[in-house]
Amino acid sequence: MQLATTYLGLPLKNPVMPGASPLVDQLDNVRRLEDSGAAAIVMHSLFEEQITRDQLAEFAHTENPSESFSEATSYFPNMEDYALGPDRYLTQISKIKEMCDIPVIGSLNGVSLGGWTDHARLIEQAGADALELNVYYVATDPDEPGLAVEARTIDILQAVKESVTIPIAVKLSPFFSSPGHFAKQLDAMGAAGIILFNRFYQPDIDIEELEATHRLDLSNSTELRLRLRWAAILHGHLKGDIAVSGGIHTVEDIIKAIMCGGTAVQVVSSLLKYGPSHIGGLINGLRHWLEDHEYESIDQMRGSMSLRHCPDPSVFERANYLRVLQLWKV
Ligand SMILES: Cc1cc2nc3c(=O)[nH]c(=O)nc-3n(C[C@H](O)[C@H](O)[C@H](O)COP(=O)(O)O)c2cc1C
Repeated sequence: MQLATTYLGLPLKNPVMPGASPLVDQLDNVRRLEDSGAAAIVMHSLFEEQITRDQLAEFAHTENPSESFSEATSYFPNMEDYALGPDRYLTQISKIKEMCDIPVIGSLNGVSLGGWTDHARLIEQAGADALELNVYYVATDPDEPGLAVEARTIDILQAVKESVTIPIAVKLSPFFSSPGHFAKQLDAMGAAGIILFNRFYQPDIDIEELEATHRLDLSNSTELRLRLRWAAILHGHLKGDIAVSGGIHTVEDIIKAIMCGGTAVQVVSSLLKYGPSHIGGLINGLRHWLEDHEYESIDQMRGSMSLRHCPDPSVFERANYLRVLQLWKV
């Protein structure tokens, strides 16, 4: 059974990898992931805010010692809240590269055009084989048009591309009016892959304390369906790869993602819940399922349920909406 595939031009022994998370901040977790068969290591993100704050601190220290630095940066999380600062982040990539035989994918996360994108070069120099670019942006200004949000993301990709030679995958938000068109634009600009999707963490409200609160709930398999729809729609339209991130918890979830067109899948919530070795069970389960169903390779299955190839493409379109609403019996 041929589980091997190619993602972002990198040969992978199978299509299953951990997604960006704090799991890989500890080297013993990285060891367990590789020993359990993970196809690649995706780093936790290095955030624009961390890099900018580091640069501001340097400036305050060397150029402007008399002015209060703390006020200027009070809107950032504390540096201690980030597990790895920019320097340690780069060292961590080098260490992982040294101890692992599988590809290492860095992750850069920010929203504005600026000097922070230069860190892509440092990530490449530290040994990363590829880079994820995550532009996690919440358009809170009602006067900002969607086109401006898209244009800025494209400019950031351009700036990062100019800094590195390694392949870049863009982790997309689902909240665009035409996510497929936007993904195609990024693909045409040379993104080697599109990751579907960023998971948005919504704030809640404490009605007694009158406070907005934040809480992270891990995902479940129902979140996969949004990704399945867009992987199925995009399959066959991109030169680059599609990675599915969000709601991958079971072997069946992996199979669905690949049938809809995913080249690779990324798992986070279920590894945080069951530990890094859980990835081994998913990979073994995938191999057994393919053998039981007489597939010869993972590539043979890819895209078989995409919009172009599935027997009833209307399930991915408006007709699905009408059907599910009409099926509900009171
Ligand atoms: C604790 C935690 C930390 C995360 N950190 C990052 C990050 O640094 N960069 C990033 O692109 N995604 C990050 N993510 C998002 C995951 O990579 C992934 O896209 C998301 O959790 C959906 O996958 P899942 O359903 O398997 O959890 C994080 C998720 C969790 C739960």
